[in-house]
Amino acid sequence: MGNMIILGTQWGDEGKGKLVDLLADKFDIIARFQGGHNAGHTIQIRDRKFVLKLIPSGILRPGKIAVIGNGMVIDPIALFEEIDQLTGAGIDVKRQLRISNRAHILFPGHRAMEARLHIGTTKRGIGPCYEDKAGRRGLRVADLLDSDTFTENFEILAREHDTLLRAFCIQPEYSVAETTAIYRELAERMRPMVADTALLLNRAIRDGKQVLFEGAQATMLDLDHGTYPFVTSSSASAGGACVGTGVAPTLIHSIVGVAKAYITRVGGGPFPTESLGAEGDELRRRGNEFGSVTGRPRRCGWFDAPLLRYTGMVNNLDTLVITKLDILDHLDRIPVCTTYRVGDELLDAMPAISNGLSRVEPAYECLPGWQTDTSQVRSWDDLPAAARSYLDFLENQVGVEVGCVSMGPERDQTLIRPGSKFEKLGLKSWA
Ligand code: GDP
Ligand code: IMO
Ligand code: MG
Repeated sequence: MGNMIILGTQWGDEGKGKLVDLLADKFDIIARFQGGHNAGHTIQIRDRKFVLKLIPSGILRPGKIAVIGNGMVIDPIALFEEIDQLTGAGIDVKRQLRISNRAHILFPGHRAMEARLHIGTTKRGIGPCYEDKAGRRGLRVADLLDSDTFTENFEILAREHDTLLRAFCIQPEYSVAETTAIYRELAERMRPMVADTALLLNRAIRDGKQVLFEGAQATMLDLDHGTYPFVTSSSASAGGACVGTGVAPTLIHSIVGVAKAYITRVGGGPFPTESLGAEGDELRRRGNEFGSVTGRPRRCGWFDAPLLRYTGMVNNLDTLVITKLDILDHLDRIPVCTTYRVGDELLDAMPAISNGLSRVEPAYECLPGWQTDTSQVRSWDDLPAAARSYLDFLENQVGVEVGCVSMGPERDQTLIRPGSKFEKLGLKSWA
């Protein structure tokens, strides 16, 4: 099967966590490459529910190695909250988790600085931490572990944060001495799990092991390719997997995109197919579309094929997983956006400016609904004919095969399409 990237193709929360948990069984290592605890990946395993933020979803598979790659930003307090929760649930985190010595450390000053951002962020300090990374002021895991220099280096960074916070009239609500003590203590707990993860991954690949790269956020939230400035601060598209782990592009064998059968967005920014009326409210209610990190209601709308054509191109997707098909079970007609227009003009590229995307008029085609419960279907051929036509329509519109469909949060509510590339990757069943 080789090494695979799995990533979100819309604005996040597509169900990546569920898919990674399923796929992880077939891989040796699962590596996250960007983002931090702004991500929220919910995985339902019978009566147990896990929400993973920093730690790769693959941790839930006993014996698998989970890597926090160099491209991530780590809030040590959030990390240990998550480690303690997972350990309490019987997961052997200490044995399974490896943390890159090059990942960046998130400090309370980063969180405080986010008060000046008004784009609906998760307020976790992610953007300011990546700002320090790009500004070459940031401290990395290796710096945190260097007990000779950490205290002084952190004081220098904290002074810089203090100056900026004062300039923006934000009152810093943390003590540098207290933070130093807490971070130094957590550094010692982290130490046994820290590694040169680029070396670890490349050695493992050389020895014939297979790596699954787990995306967080999604391509439309990617710093370069998303709806800038309403994006996150990391590279959430396929290229980010290489930069964020130190594994070269030539070692990647397949790229799998995850998309909802409709679409959601949390926070500000343009959203052409947003459904603001009762239909959108019904999607939110049925899909339980509330953020797993902040609890905010997710904005809901219809499947946007031009957007998927764009993210399909940026990631050169091999195959597409469509999730939450069951949330559309009640509808008698399902709108799908097929093109963007501005006046008489048809757009064949994604506008670069957010105002440009706010101005597009989505043109819809309405497909017949199936009005049947799909959550219990256990083979592709048993899907209602209208549901199969809906998936075929999405596939034709996007130009990427639909190789898998999900109709519920559980592992067994997932179907692989017979004869698809997805199946040819060696994924015939989830057994
Ligand atoms: P992620 O951020 O991409 O991992 O997605 P989230 O976990 O934030 O959001 C997806 C939510 O939908 C989670 O609560 C999943 O348990 C749930 N989910 C995933 N796939 C399906 C599906 O096919 N149907 C339904 N009803 N829920 C799903
Ligand atoms: P997963 O991995 C959905 C959104 C925020 C905000 C923007 C920037 O669960 O799909 P940030 O705090 O990252 O600077 O916020 O990005 N956002 C997400 N939306 N799912 C996520 O992650 C998100 N992570 C960030 O709501 O609009
Ligand atoms: Mg999520």
